[in-house]
Amino acid sequence: MNLEIVILAAGQGTRMKSRLPKVLHPVGGRPLLEHVINTAQALSPVALHVVVGHGSEQVRQALAGYDINWVEQSQRLGTGHAVMQALPAVAEDSVVLVLYGDVPMTRLSTLQHLVSHAQDRPALLTAVLDNPRGYGRILRDRDNALIGVVEEKDATDEQRLLREINTGLLAAPARDLLAYLPRVDNSNQQGEYYLPDIIRLAVADGNTVASCTAECELEILGVNDRVQLNQVEREYQRRLAEDLMRDGVSIADAARLDIRGKLSCGEDVSIDINAVFEGDVTLGDGVTIGANCVLSDVTVAAGTVIHPMSHLQETTIGRDCSVGPYARLRPGTVLADGARIGNFVETKKASIGQDSKVNHLSYIGDCEMGAEVNIGAGTITCNYDGINKHRTEIGRGVFVGSNSTLVAPLRIDEQGFIAAGSTVTTAVGRDELAVSRARQRNIKGWNRPDKRGSKD
Ligand code: UD1
Ligand code: CA
Repeated sequence: MNLEIVILAAGQGTRMKSRLPKVLHPVGGRPLLEHVINTAQALSPVALHVVVGHGSEQVRQALAGYDINWVEQSQRLGTGHAVMQALPAVAEDSVVLVLYGDVPMTRLSTLQHLVSHAQDRPALLTAVLDNPRGYGRILRDRDNALIGVVEEKDATDEQRLLREINTGLLAAPARDLLAYLPRVDNSNQQGEYYLPDIIRLAVADGNTVASCTAECELEILGVNDRVQLNQVEREYQRRLAEDLMRDGVSIADAARLDIRGKLSCGEDVSIDINAVFEGDVTLGDGVTIGANCVLSDVTVAAGTVIHPMSHLQETTIGRDCSVGPYARLRPGTVLADGARIGNFVETKKASIGQDSKVNHLSYIGDCEMGAEVNIGAGTITCNYDGINKHRTEIGRGVFVGSNSTLVAPLRIDEQGFIAAGSTVTTAVGRDELAVSRARQRNIKGWNRPDKRGSKD
């Protein structure tokens, strides 16, 4: 039967104490709801419906790239009411899987299992918890058959002792939802229309219902506050780190690694503590990432070492390069093979040629640099005149002496040589030496001022 998925995401998330709708809070750099959508997509449903209410505009915008049938639930009258809002768009001969936008870690295999049990009757995902507080409890008859769910607020003291809980995730033929949901009422402690009440109604009609259990507690952990958000985050990160280690990556401490996007690694990559990876990051064979580095949308080719405390954004780095410590490579930086960027160097929209070196305390922006260039300590490309940005072109084999300012637009041809301390404003030709600084004068027999001399 065709599968359709309904994700409930209309809740306010009061306990997050946030202006951001709960389902937009990130785990691994992506909204909670996006994780659920990605899991849903992996099940290849014919349609994906997301029920939104609180902050719905913001939620829709954040996930605009997805093919979703958005359903407005203007009044949040309960989980049953929420699913009802989606039903008119659901094909009658489908199976419907209900997911929660704030339960992001459910395994695909668990959901496949649940759906397979729901081809001709409702099936509920349950779990047995040491501490079932807050959850709806599963009611079974003497033959252990599932007969209903009671919410904690409606439960008797005896029922509260039950440790099997309703995860909230449920699958059912659309036909059953159409038959039972309209019969669910709100005569309970919370005055809400409860989705799990369809179980009791189906059983009262003489039908059976199925149940499956989740493999681990984390799978069903819902995010209600920022403590739970962090639990999910750390567990998510631990899983990613373990996957990487199994794929041959050395990680100094799995608890001090953060991947907020996608990290792809070759063989024998080594990652020291406190590395943060954002967006799409690709590390080639044998790449080493030092402690406390942040890489956002970066590609690093084989053999390169990123030394500690470096921050790299939208940068492409060749093979066998060396970057940092304390390097800042801003968007548009491209390093050819064997290039070296040292400490306290900032680059932006700069391509650094093969085997070229910018080793100390420099700013290189809007610059095209050839191979085997040496940039001395303290060199600045003056790329900005207060209105416009200008380019600096530096030919192959150029040597720029320390503390030079290169005022763009500027061209320095191959093998050009800039004397230390120069302010260069006009083009330098091939093999030319540019010196632009005050000549040194030495004054003989000069008397130093001293303490006594300053008295009169
Ligand atoms: C629900 C279940 C409970 C289960 C628990 C698991 C019901 C009545 N209870 O309780 O048995 O143990 O989940 O976490 O179903 N939502 C809407 N619209 C609404 C109400 C809720 O979209 O009108 C969404 C929420 O955003 C949330 C999800 O449905 O993602 C669950 O709602 P919530 O209020 O958290 O249900 P619980 O009381 O936790
Ligand atoms: Ca909840």
